[in-house]
Amino acid sequence: MSRCDIAIVTGAGSGLGRAVARSLAELPLRVIAIGRRLDPLLATASMSGGTIEPVAADVSTTSGRSRICSALRSADRVRFLVHAAGMHAIEPLGSITVATWRRILDTNVDARLFLTLDLLPWLQPGSRVLFVGSNSATRPRQSATAYCVSQAASHMLQQCLKIELAPRGIAVGSAVPSPVDTPMIAAQIAADPGLYPDAEDYRRLRDAGQLIAPATVARFYRWLLTQTSDIAFSADPWNVRDESHHEHWLNGTDLYARIAAPD
Ligand SMILES: NC(=O)c1ccc[n+]([C@@H]2O[C@H](COP(=O)([O-])OP(=O)(O)OC[C@H]3O[C@@H](n4cnc5c(N)ncnc54)[C@H](OP(=O)(O)O)[C@@H]3O)[C@@H](O)[C@H]2O)c1
Repeated sequence: MSRCDIAIVTGAGSGLGRAVARSLAELPLRVIAIGRRLDPLLATASMSGGTIEPVAADVSTTSGRSRICSALRSADRVRFLVHAAGMHAIEPLGSITVATWRRILDTNVDARLFLTLDLLPWLQPGSRVLFVGSNSATRPRQSATAYCVSQAASHMLQQCLKIELAPRGIAVGSAVPSPVDTPMIAAQIAADPGLYPDAEDYRRLRDAGQLIAPATVARFYRWLLTQTSDIAFSADPWNVRDESHHEHWLNGTDLYARIAAPD
């Protein structure tokens, strides 16, 4: 890898995206950290010993995606693109608004497609695109219709991009991390279980110490991005809980180990 190699991580101002950006910054490449708010991105950058460049941009807008492309030079190669930006909302069916539905679909689906396409000039043979997946792609959850639909669509988008981009030597993979101890899960835990019954499940997992630390998932993602073959990387979606690959990256530690990683 050379200094012209770049990793772009969306959603890097908190949670999983932040942990992935920090982990990739330990490699010899430039990491561009994307989020709408600059301050959390600056905090991510300050936590890293490596090079993290914050770019405040809304991935769900054309102008935001242009801003990301503007941060790249023609000689750059986007070695890794990690789609971690995401939105979740708790809305019972009767209260779904067009505005929230659109924001969630725009962020969790459209942005992943169009940012990947916008970055094609910098995605070259050997580049990898990683979708942060979700169990909600196949598991319906009460009061989270927009999120579940967006995750199912994102899953199919990844599958289609995988076959479309393989001839260019670009591998597109997906890995389910959940549930991870992030602000998104904290908001779900705080929800009224009468409205959002899954809140109880997440609360139980939290109380049992079974929310995974973002830094642990980041280690898994870094292994996937850097240590697997293209075929393995873009095989069926990976899942952090599948023990068959733990020996390769967990190094004998506990999947649920608490790792201090400020959010
Ligand atoms: N936590 C879990 O257990 C879990 C499980 C399965 C999947 N996931 C997925 O993992 C990803 C990361 O979630 P998380 O749990 O780490 O939650 P999080 O802490 O809420 O992170 C989401 C990040 O996305 C950014 N973001 C949201 N909309 C954006 C936009 N339009 N443009 C740019 N950035 C945007 C947010 O920053 P700004 O507000 O500053 O933009 C935030 O930093 C999401 O895609 C989520 O669906 C999480």
